[in-house]
This record gives sequence, C-alpha cells and structure tokens, in this order.
Amino acid sequence: MTTSPTMGTDVPRREGAEKLTGEAVYLDDLPREGVWLGGTVRASGPRGRLRRIVRDPSFPDDRAVLVTAEDIPGENVIPLFVDDQPALVESEIRHPEEPVALVAAPDAETLAVALGAIRLETDQRPPVLDLDEALAAAESGDAIFPPDNVFKCIEIVKGDTAAGGAAADAVVEGEYTFGAQEHVYIEPQAVQAEWTDDGIVIRGSLQCPYYVAHGLTRVLDLPLEKVRVIQTTTGGGFGGKEEYPTMLAAHAALLARTAGRPVRMAYGRSEDMLATTKRHPGRVRHRTGLRRDGRIVAMDIDVVLDGGAYCTLSPVVLSRGAIHAAGPYDVPNVRTLARVVATNHPPSGAFRGFGAPQTIFALETHLDRCAAELGVDPIDLRRRNLLRTGGTLATGQDLGDDVAVEDVFETALAKTRFLERRSEHARFNAEAKGHEGADRFLRRGIGLSLFMHGAGFTGSGEVTLASEVQLVGTPDGTVTALTAQTEIGQGTRTILAQTAADGVGLPVEKVRTMEPDTAVVPDSGPTVASRTAMVIGGLLLRAGRELREVVERRAGRELPDPEEFCAEVARLSAEGPLQVSATYSPPEGVHWDEETYRGDAYASFAWACDVAEVEVDLLTGETRVLGVTAVQEVGRVINPVLATGQIEGGVAQGIGWALLEDVVWEKGRMKNANLTDYVLPTSVDTPPIEVVFLERPHPRAPHGAKGIGELPMDGPAPAIVNALRQAIGAELSHVPATPERILTAIPEEEPG
Ligand code: MOS
Repeated sequence: MTTSPTMGTDVPRREGAEKLTGEAVYLDDLPREGVWLGGTVRASGPRGRLRRIVRDPSFPDDRAVLVTAEDIPGENVIPLFVDDQPALVESEIRHPEEPVALVAAPDAETLAVALGAIRLETDQRPPVLDLDEALAAAESGDAIFPPDNVFKCIEIVKGDTAAGGAAADAVVEGEYTFGAQEHVYIEPQAVQAEWTDDGIVIRGSLQCPYYVAHGLTRVLDLPLEKVRVIQTTTGGGFGGKEEYPTMLAAHAALLARTAGRPVRMAYGRSEDMLATTKRHPGRVRHRTGLRRDGRIVAMDIDVVLDGGAYCTLSPVVLSRGAIHAAGPYDVPNVRTLARVVATNHPPSGAFRGFGAPQTIFALETHLDRCAAELGVDPIDLRRRNLLRTGGTLATGQDLGDDVAVEDVFETALAKTRFLERRSEHARFNAEAKGHEGADRFLRRGIGLSLFMHGAGFTGSGEVTLASEVQLVGTPDGTVTALTAQTEIGQGTRTILAQTAADGVGLPVEKVRTMEPDTAVVPDSGPTVASRTAMVIGGLLLRAGRELREVVERRAGRELPDPEEFCAEVARLSAEGPLQVSATYSPPEGVHWDEETYRGDAYASFAWACDVAEVEVDLLTGETRVLGVTAVQEVGRVINPVLATGQIEGGVAQGIGWALLEDVVWEKGRMKNANLTDYVLPTSVDTPPIEVVFLERPHPRAPHGAKGIGELPMDGPAPAIVNALRQAIGAELSHVPATPERILTAIPEEEPG
C-alpha cells in the first residue's frame, strides 16, 4: 500500500472546526487573571513638537503605570528598512496617531481614568497632507523625511520612450487616483507581553513572529534568545499584521516591564482603524504612444504613493507596484518612474498586493481609455499587445514559455461570452431610456482586467532570507512540520501539511504542523508576498523526500506502506532526534539587478483575467456588481477549496476597494474610523464569483505551485471601473467609485 498524493485534493481546513465552533482561542480570550491592560496616549495633531507630558494628580498612581520614551531600555526605534520610526515620541510629532506615552492598569475602568489623566503640551505646525506638497517639500527644506521627502524612488527603463513615442500615431494621457484601504481583519491587533526569567515572551495576533522578535531585541536591548514570540489564533492579516505588531509588542513589553506583570494590549476597532497601517493611496499618470491599429509603442508611467509619516514597508510596496505597472504586455519602450513620499498621515503599509493593485488599476483603466480614444475595441487592443513566448516584460524579463496571459484572456472571454454580453448590455442601455418604472434608470456594463502577479520576494530577496524548515519525527509515529509560517485564515496549516505529506509519501493525517513559536520553529521567513505555498511548500516537499530517505536508509529497506513507515518513525524517534531540514536555494538562471531594476524580478508569475458585470442606478449612483468571473493561472493548485476561497476573498476585497471602502481624511486623521461610516462589502454586496483555475505547473518550484494570496486583489477594481464605463458612458478615474462620485460622473443627457 502506497499513499496517493494529497496535493490537488480538498483536505479539510485544519483549524476550521475550532473556528466554527468558537473553541479557537484568540489573544483576548486568554485568561485575564494577573494581567493588566495597556492603552496608548496619542499625539492628536498631525505635526509638531512635544514639549511636555503632564500627569494630572488624578492619575491613579497606586493602580496604574505610565511609560514614556525615557523608559526604553534599548533603542527607541521600530526597525524596518530604515530606523526612522520611534516606539514612542521623544520630541518630533509626525502624524496624529503617534504613540507618545503608554499606560497600564488592572482593568478597563482604571485604564480609562489613567489615560484621561495624561495631557500633552505640544507646539503644532502646518502638516503636509497632499502628494504635490510632499514632493515640493524637498525644495522648501521642509521635508518630513530628509533630505528630499522621498522614501524610495525607482526607475525602470526599457528601450527608448522618446524615440518610441515619436513613431506613435496617437498619444493618450490619463491620471488615475486611488484611496487608502483599511485591512479590517476580523480580529483587531492584539498582543500580550510577559517577562520571565528567560526574557520576554510575546503572544499575539501576528503574521511574522520573527519580525517581532528581531524588532524587540533592539527596543529591549536583549539577545534573540531572550525574546520569544508565539502566534496565537489570528483573525486575519492581509499585510496589516506584517509590521504593526512589532510596535504593539514593544509597547506591551515596555508596560509589562514597568508594571512588573503581564500586560495585554488589544485594540478596539476604531483605534485599530485610526492608528494602524493602510493600503497606500496615491496616483498614477500614464502617457501612452499607440499606433492606429492599437499596438502600443511607448509607455510612460509616473507613480506617486503616499507613504505616510514613516518608511515602514513602503520601499517594497513601491517596488512591487513599479514592477507590475506596465502589466502583462510586451511593449518595446517603457519608462516607469515610481516614488513613495512622506506626508503627515499615519504610515501606510503592506496590504494584499503590495502596490500592484494600485498600478494595475491605473494601467487597466487606462487601456480602456486608450481604446476609446483610438476607436478600437479594448479587447483587440489588449490582444495586440499581450506578452507571448519570447517577449519581454518592462524589466526585460524573458519568461520563456512560462507565460499564460493569452490563455487566461481567451478563456475569460469565452467563459463569460464577453462580446455577446457586452452587446446585450448595450441594447439594454439603449432601450432603458424608453422604459417605464425603475428600469428607466438602470444601466449595465461589462469590463475586464488582465494582470499578473509575481510571487515570493523580489529578485534576490529569497536568497537573502535563506528560509529554513524542519521536519521532525515524533515517538507516536507522526511527522511534525516546523516553520514560522502563520495561519491567518488563508489555509497555511492545511496546505503545508499537504506538501510535507506528499514529500514523505504519507497520508496527510500523519503530518502535523507546529504553531509558530520562535523558541521552537526555524526562521522560514515572513508570511507575506504570496510566498508560503510556493517557497515554503516547496521546501517542505524537499524536506519530506529527504526524511523518507533518512528513515529508509536507517531501516535498511524501502517502506512503501505508510503504517510500516510510521512504525519506523516511532522507533527511530524514541531512540533520539529524527530530524531533517531544508534551506532555500535559488532556481537556476534567475538574475536580478537591484540597482537598475532589470532582469528577473520573480522566478515565475501567476496570470489572471477578471470579468465584472455591473448595474448602476442613475438615481442613487449605486453600483450592483452582478457577477465576477476570475480566471487565474496559479501553477499547481494544492487545495482547490482553499484556493477558491482565497480568490473569492480577494475579489470581495477588490470590490470593496473599487466601490465602497472610502477612507476619509481630516487633518491627517481617518474621519470615518468605524464600521458604520467605513462601508465594507457584506455578503449582500458580494455577487456570485466564478473562479476558474488554469494550472500550468511552475517549472521552477518542485511542486509547481505559484502564489495566490495577492493575485486576486489586483483585478476587480479595473474590471469594475471598465464595466462602469460601459454602463454610464463615462470614466471613473478614482477608486473607490462611490455613489457620490458616480453621480458626479454621469453625463448630463442621462435621466435622473
Ligand atoms: Mo503582504 S501585503 O502581507 O505580502
């Protein structure tokens, strides 16, 4: 009896039952005895200088503690790319939610009293909240981030856009803008810190336990062995729990140190929305040279993102945005200039897609504009410019035949009967004006977007990470996979067990996964960038194969029968440690130049085409999404049900960003930081989503899987905006396309 592979089958989600039944223990469900609660005193003004922290006599000294920057034993920094962000303000205030002081108390009531007893004396000055002002701040010597207020600038050049543009029959320009987006993970940020004889122990709702551990070594001035970080059941992340938990863990650890007892910090929804990172808002300008037949001869792309007050992960967000800005097209001359600038907004950060949704929204909306101005069909325009075998992306990358953009495009057109549906909607719209009743004010449209997403860290990033995984035998005959990868709702535990099981050649029930705890698991890198299935899954497959070899060698015979194999694992594990590890090594022939941004940005890309159909009510400006078809080429699908869930979730999140989720700013603060005024798509707003997988196994991964975490977030916004173009006969160049913006865009001649 051998074992049939589990990859490609719907192994049930491992933590599904405990989450469904409410048995899963989230951070704030942990026992409260002896634990104090922590709270934050924030700057409350976008820019200025802190003069004094005043403790009112009403501060309950006997039942509360106060922590300021002076109490930090190590460096006052939340380290990331650059060490610009302090854990607590010392003097300069750069955004309105900056943490200035921390308070802990035994219960919520005392905490509120203590927080209310802290007053800040500050000098305020005019903030920089606008992109052009932020760019101009360099010249006026008033930079938030010296010297020039630019966190990162990337230029990618292919060919010669000036010469290419000169050969064009037409040049089409467009400017596309997009708002911030809040992650709204179902569980707000939460951590608990406890000092023990062995150092600090952090438990928390986390994406990247090792990021927290490394950050705390600096703030607390401790060696890595004295910092232990344990992930508790985590209610979503989407990038939002990639960097911020380091800040929160530092705060909780500082309070616990002063209070001499464990301290929990669990944000409420409003504080979470106000203070934590969001998707980068910004703008993209396109200038595109085309020949009359729709062939693009030159593209000039200018990207500016609002990074907020500190650098955080902005350089990588910008990098991914820039690399994806020219899309899955083979254009001979492309220049992309991308900058992320400092403003006095709270820092922007990682959010599913890492800048790619922003630049793909701009490009795919712009291509429909190009088609309209040129009088060619947007389908033909895309078909004429698709990347095909032998073509190169804007970075010069030649993917050989690992290119499926034509497949996803033609499949999506056929599946949705795109051209017929478009004619039907045109007819409906033409006739609607003559209708009686409510139909008279309804307009319909169909639109699509074509895109790709590179998985894993860019260029040599994975080599630098040098991720390690381990597989260990257990005396009960099972095998345990040790990685730092976090389950944040996306199915990590299940799919990693599947890849390991297939590597060893065991039924998936025989493989367990260890919860990330930095005292136990090796550093297999962060759970970000759509890398888990592809990179870590591939490593576990390799480790699994090696474990089988080790066990069979020590047994002196082959063990095809799983029962016999497990019996041998039990025997060997009882004798002493039975363990193998695998470390990342780069695929052959991948070359990337970090200076020039030329070469192979990613070993492989996933490809996709989204088609959206919408109905707009001209009276209210409301858009109903009638349906979305998402055709996704993702290499090998490890678990169809979970993969489909990832795509459906990404599409829903994309619909939110496209139509509803509007972060409203007022003096650098989010004005609508609650779930009444920040409108999310609910199940009622989420249309039927048809997910179609095309599987072209990734030739550079041992199991053929590419990443799918971010890909589905990239396509919905432009597909919807292009559908709106047909429905109302106008372009929405800003997302979210809220009812107010749609009403403004509706042409005069329409009724309503
Ligand atoms: Mo992310 S946006 O967690 O890679």
